[in-house]
Amino acid sequence: MTKTLLRGRVLSFRSEPAGPDDADAYLYIEDGALLVADGLIEGVGEFPTVAAQAPDAVLIDHRPHLLMPGFIDTHIHFPQVQVIASWGAQLLDWLNTYTFPEETRFADPDHARAMACAFYDQLTAHGTTTALAFCSVHRSSADAFFEEAERRNMAMIGGKVMMDRNAPEALLDTAQTGYDDSKALIDAWHGKGRARYAITPRFAITSTPEQLDMAGALVAEYPDCFVQTHLSENRDEIAFTKSLYPKARDYLDVYQNHGLLGPRTFLGHSIHLEPREIDALAETGAHPAFCPTSNLYLGSGLFDDAGLRDRGISNSIATDVGAGTSYSMLQTLNEAYKILQLQGQILHPLRAFHWITRGNAAALGMQDRIGTLEVGTDADIVVLDSRATGAMALRMERAETLAEELFVLQIMGDDRSIAETYVAGVAQSNVSQIRAPENAI
Ligand code: GUN
Ligand code: FE
Repeated sequence: MTKTLLRGRVLSFRSEPAGPDDADAYLYIEDGALLVADGLIEGVGEFPTVAAQAPDAVLIDHRPHLLMPGFIDTHIHFPQVQVIASWGAQLLDWLNTYTFPEETRFADPDHARAMACAFYDQLTAHGTTTALAFCSVHRSSADAFFEEAERRNMAMIGGKVMMDRNAPEALLDTAQTGYDDSKALIDAWHGKGRARYAITPRFAITSTPEQLDMAGALVAEYPDCFVQTHLSENRDEIAFTKSLYPKARDYLDVYQNHGLLGPRTFLGHSIHLEPREIDALAETGAHPAFCPTSNLYLGSGLFDDAGLRDRGISNSIATDVGAGTSYSMLQTLNEAYKILQLQGQILHPLRAFHWITRGNAAALGMQDRIGTLEVGTDADIVVLDSRATGAMALRMERAETLAEELFVLQIMGDDRSIAETYVAGVAQSNVSQIRAPENAI
């Protein structure tokens, strides 16, 4: 079997950096190499040492670029590939005007398959190798999502949304069919290869209490599945939720009451939280998903990262495409930096790059396999070019430290900085998977 030796500047985090100078938190090797075999990382270290481990390996020289673990996105919507940049609305109007009509198109399995291809092409072009994603209400959309991930050997997590009210008829399931379809998908996909299932009630507004009961029953039956939904993104959404669930103590209580909270639960947005909700997040170990580009784009609000972290809550970070405006986790960090600046909080670059790799992996409980370059883990790797544009190259002339270079990538980087993405050891730029959807413009 052919082994591959990737040469470049290796950077991988061991733990969350305590501050911008915490060199113990990461491994950095200036003339480094990764030995990749059978989809796994078989060696990591100084180039001459790793090269000696496998003299017959095929050498790919990525110098002077950085080799890092592939990025991880903890909240994204697969059926919203063609919703990005739909203008003029905040959350509820945006859903009703653009997003729900678009998601009805995923009733057609051919459309779902074409879009799954386009979706993964975009993810890997932006350096993302694992994502936790919402599919549409249609079971076949989740099949398309998992089939295409399997074809590419990607570690993807997802689920069909459960939604049985307050949306167009064509997008509604029922408490029973939502349960049955989710269960069938779990049986078909959860743990198959690299696939994992996420039980996915869309949000409180689009589920009846009966449906949330069924979602809770699935969580009890399949405790190692993930759970994903949305929480406190927008003031009108919160008011509507409270009117639908008048007995709930607050928005989060709706989910808590139905047994949906735990360390495998991811809550998109989590912006406008009440003190009791913060207590409940801390107690249950559920993870907010901070979605910076989306929160700015829909005018939703400022995520209080430091406030939640001070309570021991482990926040993840995500794009939320299609309300999110970029697939790039680098652009996501750029907007995150600015949102935290507005609140007197600083997102320093070491923590930023830890967050989109090992940090998100740890939130998912998958840090033993992804988000790291340790020997024995999955060879999901991104190759980063910090001089990808003229403006970046100019700025890099004045960068003296690794942290400065990372900050240039954090603020100025996007898909142009992704020189290559490896999924389970396979270079994605060589796999030319781009297929135009039949109905593309
Ligand atoms: N809340 C419920 N559904 C959605 C969605 O698709 N996007 C966002 N941003 N918020 C939601
Ligand atoms: Fe979302």
